[in-house]
Amino acid sequence: MLAKENIKKIYDRRAKFYDFVEFPIERLIFSSWRQRLWSAVNGSVVLEVGVGTGKNFPYYPASARVFAIDFSPEMLKRAIQKVKKFGLNIEVRTMDVEEMDFPDNYFDSVVASFVFCSVPNPIRGLCEVKRVLRGGGRLVLLEHVRSERWFGVFMDLLNPIAVRITGANINRRTVENVVKTGFEIIKEENLFLDLVKLIIARKPYYHGS
Ligand SMILES: C[S@@+](CC[C@H](N)C(=O)[O-])C[C@H]1O[C@@H](n2cnc3c(N)ncnc32)[C@H](O)[C@@H]1O
Repeated sequence: MLAKENIKKIYDRRAKFYDFVEFPIERLIFSSWRQRLWSAVNGSVVLEVGVGTGKNFPYYPASARVFAIDFSPEMLKRAIQKVKKFGLNIEVRTMDVEEMDFPDNYFDSVVASFVFCSVPNPIRGLCEVKRVLRGGGRLVLLEHVRSERWFGVFMDLLNPIAVRITGANINRRTVENVVKTGFEIIKEENLFLDLVKLIIARKPYYHGS
C-alpha cells in the first residue's frame, strides 16, 4: 500500500492537467454517468468526498446544501476557482475522508465518483462516511473496481504500477468494502462490463441514530 502522503502528492501533481487530460472521456462517457450518480442522491444536506477539481459541480441538486471535501490542496484549489468563477454556493474544505470534522448523523447523502480506488484505507474512509450519514441516509458511488472475470488477475499484477503513476488502485473490491462497513446495498449496476459500477447503499437505522 502506498503511503497517504505519496497518494496526496500524486494528485497534487496531476491537478494541473487533470481537467485537460480527462476532457474527451468526460464529454463522451463520464458526463452521462455523473448524471446517473447524482439522480440517486437524496435529501437536503449532501457531502461529496474526493471532490477533486469539481467536475460534479454542474450536477449538484439546486435545493440541497452541499459540502465538498478533498485531501489534495492542488485539486481543491481548482475546485475553489470554479466555485468563485461561477458564484456557486458550495462549502469546500480540505479534509481527509478517513478523519472528518463533521458531526455524527449529519448528512442525508454522501456521494463520491472515482474516489474509493484512491483512498489509502478505504474501510476507514467508509466507516467515517457511515458515521457522518444519518440512519437511512444514502451512500452513492461511481467507482471503477477489480473485475471478477479472468482479467482481474492482470489487474492485481498491474496494480502496483498503476497506483504509483495515477494514485488509483485498479483492483479495489469497493462493493465488498461497502458491505464490510455495514451498509445495505440498494443497487449495484454495471456501467461498463463489471469494471465501472454505480453503487447505491443505505446506512441502517440501528447504526447510531
Ligand atoms: C480520481 S480523483 C476523482 C476526482 C473527482 N471525484 C472526479 O470525479 O473527477 C480522486 C480524488 O480523491 C481524492 N482523495 C483520495 N483519497 C482521499 C482521502 N483520503 N480524503 C479526501 N480525498 C481523497 C484525491 O485527492 C482526488 O482528488
